[in-house]
Order: sequence, then C-alpha cells, then structure tokens
Amino acid sequence: MAGKITVLIGSPRANGNSAKIAKAIADECQAMGKEVATFHLDKIEGLRGCRACNACKKRGGCIAKDPTLPILESIAGSEGIVLSTPLYFNVESGQLKLVLDRFYGFLSEDFKTFLPGTQKAAVVVSCMTGEESSEDCASHLRQVCSMCGIQPVGTIAVCDPGDEKNTLTPEILERAKDIAHKL
Ligand SMILES: Cc1cc2nc3c(=O)[nH]c(=O)nc-3n(C[C@H](O)[C@H](O)[C@H](O)COP(=O)(O)O)c2cc1C
Repeated sequence: MAGKITVLIGSPRANGNSAKIAKAIADECQAMGKEVATFHLDKIEGLRGCRACNACKKRGGCIAKDPTLPILESIAGSEGIVLSTPLYFNVESGQLKLVLDRFYGFLSEDFKTFLPGTQKAAVVVSCMTGEESSEDCASHLRQVCSMCGIQPVGTIAVCDPGDEKNTLTPEILERAKDIAHKL
C-alpha cells in the first residue's frame, strides 16, 4: 500500500459539488494504490468541536475519546488529506469547522505541530455565486493546514449558480487528478 489519504466531506449533500470533486481526488489516489479513508462529517453522530481543555498541550494530542478522535487519528496516519466544504454564509460548513477546530490538538503549547510535517493537503470549496468568499474560505483552510504542518498542494473552488450539481466538468476532473498526484 502506497500511503493513506484522509478525505473530509463537509457537505451534508453526499452527492453535491464539493463531495463529488473530493471523491474524484480520492478515486485517483485509490487508482495509484493509496488507501482512502472518507469521513462524511454530516453522518457522524456526536461530532463536537474543541472544548479548549488544553490537555493536548500537556499530553501531546487530543484526549477527548469521542467520534472525532478516529478522524484525527486517521489524519495523523495519512500522508495527505482532502478538506471539502460548501460555502455557508461565506465560510466553511459547521460540520467541517467542528473538526477543523479539533486540529488544535495537533499543536503544542508553543504552536509547534505534533504531526510529522511531511503531510499534504488539498482543499475543495463549492459556492453558489460567492467566488471571492470561496477563495477566502479556501485560503483560511490552507492556513489552518499550514499551521499544523500540513502543506497545501492544491485548491479547487467552484461556483454552481443554478444548483445543478454538475461542477465536476472534464476540466475540473483533470485538476482533481492532478492534485491527487501531488498528495
Ligand atoms: C446554509 C447555506 C448557506 C449558504 N451560503 C452561501 C454563501 O454565503 N455564498 C454562496 O455563494 N453560496 C452559499 N450557499 C450555497 C452553497 O454554497 C452552494 O449551493 C454549494 O454549491 C453547495 O455545495 P455542495 O453541493 O458541495 O453541498 C449556501 C447554502 C446553504 C445551505
């Protein structure tokens, strides 16, 4: 097995734009022989955000034994991650934000990462018309990854004004495949 990829689906629409593009990246990773772990965040019962207990700063990682822990463990054991989300009121979905805040557990007291520092990230954002906000949202997601020592290697931001859910065009598919090879 040539490494593992963890995919976070932040949209409640399992067959929506961002999920389809994330899946295209994942499919290409799988075709390269990589193991893919996909988490449909909306389907995970009991997903909770960071409780700011700061135990991670003393214990070297999040200590909350809850449904988010397997996601964090999967990320820690992956060589690449895919963060995908629709744009909701100009930011990522609440489902993804809950998990993103838990990335705090990857950071030490002096904000050094506990992760190996070799991991890569792909970011996918889908909006209706908010192209500029999508770019801001993608930039924010890349910053969180960078803070945690996960290097962003590619972003796909798409607009779907008519809610057609067909943003996985041949061009976007090519970009998804290209990003998969960088993960
Ligand atoms: C709660 C909610 C808030 C939204 N806010 C925005 C927004 O601020 N800007 C925008 O362009 N689209 C907004 N949308 C539309 C979605 O971002 C858009 O339909 C997107 O393509 C959905 O992605 P998905 O197919 O991956 O779920 C919103 C949709 C919902 C349900």
